[in-house]
Amino acid sequence: MIIFWIALLSGSLLFGVYHLMVSKRRYNWSKKWQRASSITAMDEKPAFGVTADPQRKWGTWIPHPFVTPVPAPYPNWSVAHTKPLPYRPFKHNYFVTMGIRSMSWDDWIELDNEWPEFHARKMNRIQERADKLNHTEPCAVPAVEELVDELSRYLTCRYPSLFKFTSPGIMSNLYTGEVFDLRSRPWKEDPMTMCGKWLQDDLAVMIEGEDGQYYLKAGSIMLSGFWRLTDKLNMSLAEIHTSGDVPHFNAKLKTGMERFFQKLGPERAVNRNNYFIQTDNDLAWSHAIGHEDSDTIGWYTAEDAVGVDQLKFRSERQSLRRLPKTGAIIFTIRTYFLPITQIAQEPYCSARLLDGIRHWDKDVSSYKGLQKYGPVLVPYLEAMAKKDEERGNGRDSEKENYPW
Ligand code: HEM
Repeated sequence: MIIFWIALLSGSLLFGVYHLMVSKRRYNWSKKWQRASSITAMDEKPAFGVTADPQRKWGTWIPHPFVTPVPAPYPNWSVAHTKPLPYRPFKHNYFVTMGIRSMSWDDWIELDNEWPEFHARKMNRIQERADKLNHTEPCAVPAVEELVDELSRYLTCRYPSLFKFTSPGIMSNLYTGEVFDLRSRPWKEDPMTMCGKWLQDDLAVMIEGEDGQYYLKAGSIMLSGFWRLTDKLNMSLAEIHTSGDVPHFNAKLKTGMERFFQKLGPERAVNRNNYFIQTDNDLAWSHAIGHEDSDTIGWYTAEDAVGVDQLKFRSERQSLRRLPKTGAIIFTIRTYFLPITQIAQEPYCSARLLDGIRHWDKDVSSYKGLQKYGPVLVPYLEAMAKKDEERGNGRDSEKENYPW
């Protein structure tokens, strides 16, 4: 009996000490940056990757013991020869859904032989307007520090021929010769600018407020095409989407997305892909919808497309994951950008894209600017689809293999 009481007492003591230590490490984000005040009711349906502590108070995060798995080196990767992955994420129909799928840790960041071109464009954007493209709010500093740590560990293992730790805390880019000091403070540049220089992706850091909403608190948004960091910074997920008139956001996406963000645990990660048509050829900013500094940007300002050669297929491969120590959610956006005439040469693509576009409803069509290029694109895809079918690539022989 005595042994039982001793064991019970020492167990409680250990438990108490553990909780004291953990609560000291608990991050409590400042109230200052919170914009919305309402508390969103939790939906009872299970979310994807439900692992975050359901009891936790919004806006607080207890560091999670999860350690991101070390990725395997990308097989035979080379900055000169590895081609971009050929995502063709259009279906014969079109529904507004979250469209997320599980991601393997190895695939967090995808780099290829377009890296030098993306990097050059980003460097030139940094020269022109770094402050408008990259930013870290003070409350996001711990999350961004963790992001720097996670990204540098990932990149040096996944792409060892491009990134290397040349001494402790110093990461070098073996292609450009850039050297990044990850330890000394103050930072030489905004750490989001630094992360942006490493990747082809844009990056957004989302932090939970005390109302359970997620706010855009840091970003490196240099190649986004149609939206600007300065417009969306500090907005909640819902404001980001409603201010851009994302079609059917309130009816079809809001509840599921908010539940997903609240429940996403650090050991799960997801991808989603989307696609757009652009009527000019700048990856960084689509001038067709207005000057980047203009107050009035939108498809309504664009000229009608005159020929199919000016049409680009623009497609994002996005990833979402939660950082274990700070609980911030990292959103990566990698854009693939190629002429529509190239896509239309590929088996099955013309008919599938055409069917997808024909399923866009009025709101989706207007959001994606169909009125400006539809009269050129639709007859072109019809003709190309017919040719493809004549070559034996009809619908009955097509394999379903989303997102390829
Ligand atoms: C599960 C997560 C998410 C889903 C399902 C989602 C869904 C969408 C959809 C459907 C669109 C319309 C274009 C498209 O088809 O992709 C969109 C646009 C957009 N999303 Fe998200 N999104 C998610 C997360 C985020 C996050 C974390 C950010 C943070 C920056 C973000 C920022 C934007 C922006 C800036 C736009 C363009 C809005 C505009 O046109 O002004 N999204 N999103």
